[in-house]
Amino acid sequence: MQQSSSTILRKSLAFLTPYTKQIVIASIALVFTAGLTLGLVQYVRVIVDKGFVAGSTESLNGAILGFVIVALLQAAGTFARFYWVSWLGERVTADIRKAVYSHIIDLHPGYFEDNLSGEIQSRITTDTTLIQSVVGSSASIALRNLLMMVGGTIFLFITNPKLTSVVLICIPLVIGPILYFGRKVRKLSRSSQDEIANVGAYVGESIQQIKTVQAYNHQGHDDAQFSRHVETAFKVALNRILMRSFLITVVMTLVFGALAVMIWVGGQDVINGVMSAGELTAFVAYAVLVASAVGAISQVISELQRAAGAMERLMELLEAENEIVAPANPRHFEAEFKGTLELKDLTFSYPSRPDTPALNSISLLVKPGESVALVGPSGAGKSTLFDLVLRFYDPQSGSLSLDGINIRELDPKELRRHIAIVSQQPTMFTGNVWENIRYGRPDASDAEVRAAAESAFANEFIEKLPQGYDSYLGESGIRVSGGQKQRIAIARAILKDPEILLLDEATSALDAESERKVQLALEKLMKNRTSLVIAHRLGTVKNVDRIAVLELGHLIAQGSHAELMKTCELYANLANLQFNDSAVSDIKQALP
Ligand SMILES: Nc1ncnc2c1ncn2[C@@H]1O[C@H](COP(=O)(O)OP(=O)(O)OP(=O)(O)O)[C@@H](O)[C@H]1O
Ligand SMILES: [Mg+2]
Repeated sequence: MQQSSSTILRKSLAFLTPYTKQIVIASIALVFTAGLTLGLVQYVRVIVDKGFVAGSTESLNGAILGFVIVALLQAAGTFARFYWVSWLGERVTADIRKAVYSHIIDLHPGYFEDNLSGEIQSRITTDTTLIQSVVGSSASIALRNLLMMVGGTIFLFITNPKLTSVVLICIPLVIGPILYFGRKVRKLSRSSQDEIANVGAYVGESIQQIKTVQAYNHQGHDDAQFSRHVETAFKVALNRILMRSFLITVVMTLVFGALAVMIWVGGQDVINGVMSAGELTAFVAYAVLVASAVGAISQVISELQRAAGAMERLMELLEAENEIVAPANPRHFEAEFKGTLELKDLTFSYPSRPDTPALNSISLLVKPGESVALVGPSGAGKSTLFDLVLRFYDPQSGSLSLDGINIRELDPKELRRHIAIVSQQPTMFTGNVWENIRYGRPDASDAEVRAAAESAFANEFIEKLPQGYDSYLGESGIRVSGGQKQRIAIARAILKDPEILLLDEATSALDAESERKVQLALEKLMKNRTSLVIAHRLGTVKNVDRIAVLELGHLIAQGSHAELMKTCELYANLANLQFNDSAVSDIKQALP
């Protein structure tokens, strides 16, 4: 959706309002320097008339002294103008970046299904840079030249009204193309930035998945695909530049044509003795000032239009509506949090697949301290259920409540404070082991981190890493193995010490020996905690209080292993397939 320029301008100005003091200083410097430049021309007139033409050395000296003083003042003013205007540009950019990031980091996860991360990154980096250049220089260039244009025209009038009418006739001729081409530039600039963002998104994904890219010899294909994005970006940019070139050419031609006419008319007057040489010099100087001001404005206006395009893209991010928000008056848990989790008739389908519910009228009550295993074939909706407990999505119907409070009535932050999850793909962040384990409790002491790592049987391998706990895990934990990531993720959950624990295939990447150990640790952790455990290997859920079987989004049965073996065909099949394997037959014996 295209927003009007004035809406964008109004919204952009909101970012400037906190800095009125700086804007005032910059504006004073701006007006001061523009005034001095215009005044300087008066000196030129004096120098020409009184010095050169009149042949008086004394008045020439005086005039030159004045000129030097004005020039020094000009230098000081320019310093202040440049410093404060650039300051504003940097400040506003920093504020916009922060505002956009802190807005999107809170957005509901569903938003990121249609908005690629690379695209968002590009907006935060390249679009803000564009705005920085506009606020930090183009805007001041535009303002300065606007002052010069207006001031220059006034002085032109004072110097010679007759010649000035020539200038005035030209102004509408110049403004027309500026507006026409300017609008085109903005539109093209927007698509040019969109293309750049596509390029960025492409790079991001292929680099993150570099091993898969190379393992499948996909580089050639990626190369071609990437080139297409880059070439499209180039073509769009070229169109934009073409418009800009047209704009500048038209304006320049008109301006210099007008100048030629003026000099011709003025020259006649000097020849006829109606006008002094100094007057004509001053007049031409003003005319040149006005002309170059118009030229500069016409260039800068397309910069401004580009920035408007960039601002529009940033505003879209800033205005993206968060679908998962705290209600106006969120309810709070009682002082003593118990951890009763109740799902009532819960139905949910992902926004991209409205017609196929991933969860279909699920009702489940998990009492405080109880542990329930969710089992079922791949795609049954187990992980989806966890997403709903964490309120990453809201169900279409039914409710999910914790200690009797519908989670929609809670601040999601308060809800999530009581939950820890070890997800199916354990997530690591660029940083060292300390930071990754402390993720859910940044204030935990070193001793607490070590204790958590020990419980997760992670201590052993961490100590063997080159720098122990100070070892960097690399982007997304690329420097540790899948099983090691899992153990760090478990340590993270243990350290958070929540009342509710969600384990999604938490030990699936471990060897039998480590799995047994970690399993023991998890069982200790699950004691007296409300826990939901997803497991494909039924042997790992032998000690839970209850097993719930999910199939295609339906909760088809619940009970103990022994009960389900009798009553639930799907479960019995899953169990028979797994336990007929001799390697796990000993576990089979131990099942409840
Ligand atoms: N973001 C999404 N958008 C649309 N559909 C999704 C999304 N995530 C999952 N699904 C679909 O929802 C269904 C349930 O997925 P879910 O991840 O909950 O399965 P699961 O039981 O955890 O399976 P697995 O055991 O393989 O992890 C699947 O059919 C899946 O394709
Ligand atoms: Mg899953």
